[in-house]
Amino acid sequence: MALRKVKTGIAGLDMMLQGGFPEGRMILVTGGPGTGKTIFCSQFLHHGATEQGEKTVYISLDETKPHFIEEMLGFGWDFRMLEQESKFTFVDASAIRRIPEKTKVGRLPVGGKELARARLIDSIFTTADGSGSTSIEKFIGDLGAQRVVLDSISGLLFRFPEAWEKRQAILDIYEALDATGATCLITSEALSIGEERQVQSEEYLSHGAILLQTLETGARAVRILKMRGTEVDSAPRPYRILGTGIEVHSDQSIFGT
Ligand SMILES: Nc1ncnc2c1ncn2[C@@H]1O[C@H](COP(=O)(O)OP(=O)(O)O)[C@@H](O)[C@H]1O
Ligand SMILES: [Mg+2]
Repeated sequence: MALRKVKTGIAGLDMMLQGGFPEGRMILVTGGPGTGKTIFCSQFLHHGATEQGEKTVYISLDETKPHFIEEMLGFGWDFRMLEQESKFTFVDASAIRRIPEKTKVGRLPVGGKELARARLIDSIFTTADGSGSTSIEKFIGDLGAQRVVLDSISGLLFRFPEAWEKRQAILDIYEALDATGATCLITSEALSIGEERQVQSEEYLSHGAILLQTLETGARAVRILKMRGTEVDSAPRPYRILGTGIEVHSDQSIFGT
């Protein structure tokens, strides 16, 4: 059965993806700081809300709501208006970074998957709505959101020093997001760039992964590292960040031909 495609809001990228992201999948957007991950994800949400009439959610671990709203207004994207139209919900999960290590999220006990998951996710939504009684699945399900962004997963994973703990936390978050049926973008800060780049668990475990890079020449390149269930253009292609958002030149190579 052919997967339905979800337009990304970036025309050149839709070309590379043969129509868009596979619906309901989890796509990792990885890259170094300043490569445009937050702008990329916001463009995806804005397109869904304004062009497709979809409901959207942005779960932020890095930015506060006023900062996000203001920054995106710079691209002509009025998320405050979308919020008033019930097409956009901002979840400020930045407080999770300030929760003392041992009390709230804590270290995961061996085999304590349920406990770990409940705590991690509760702590996001405790900070979001004050009740702590909901889950990601329920929260997003109640809203009926079709597009969800978690920016960034690195902001959560730093709490888990051991590789197996990180992997478990990623699995828990992915499982929760997968259950919502929404198409989800999850950002992560790339640790290393170039061919020696380490494949991290969050990339390995996702359905798809997109890499944003700033090359030594200063040029920017986007590459689809993987996209399960669909043919894609896996060559690196140039992109630019403009006052109107991200533009991908899918007909050009990064070598300037
Ligand atoms: N109006 C603009 N025109 C061109 N580039 C911009 C504009 N606004 C922001 N940028 C670029 O966007 C980048 C920041 O994007 P952002 O999505 O916050 O990155 P990330 O989330 O990957 O750290 C910066 O490198 C900045 O140069
Ligand atoms: Mg960012």
